[in-house]
Amino acid sequence: MTETAILTRRYKFAASHRLHSECLSGEENTKIFGKCNNPNGHGHNYQVYVSVRGPIEPHAGRVTDVGALDRIVADTIIHRFDHRDLNLDPAFAGRTTTGENVTRLIWDLLAAKIPGGDLHKVGLVETRDNYFEYSERQG
Ligand code: NI
Repeated sequence: MTETAILTRRYKFAASHRLHSECLSGEENTKIFGKCNNPNGHGHNYQVYVSVRGPIEPHAGRVTDVGALDRIVADTIIHRFDHRDLNLDPAFAGRTTTGENVTRLIWDLLAAKIPGGDLHKVGLVETRDNYFEYSERQG
C-alpha cells in the first residue's frame, strides 16, 4: 500500500464583489442576497486553503514541491484576484461571485497545474462565519 498524505497551504487575497444574478429580478436578488446585493459592492479578505494529496516522496518526505505550488498559486490565483472586482473577471460572466463559485473556479484553475500529487480540496474563508469547500472525487 502506498503511503499518502495531504498537505494544505494557506494563501490570501483581498477582493470586492457584489452578489447579483442576471437571471433574477431586482426583488428576488434583494431577497436572496440581502445586503450582499448592494450595487456598490463590498470587499473581503479571502483566505484560500489548497490541499494536495499524494504519495509521500521517499527522499524529500513530501507530497509536492511547496515552492513550485506557491509560485503556481501566486501566478494563477493571487495575481488574478488580489485587489480586483471579482464581478469583472471574465470567468464570472453570467455566474454569481458566491463563495461556492469562487471556490469552484479556484479548483478549475489549479487542478491541472499541481506540481506533484493531486489537488484534493480547495477551501475558501470569506468571512468569519463563511467557509466553503470544493473537491472532486479522484478517479
Ligand atoms: Ni460578500
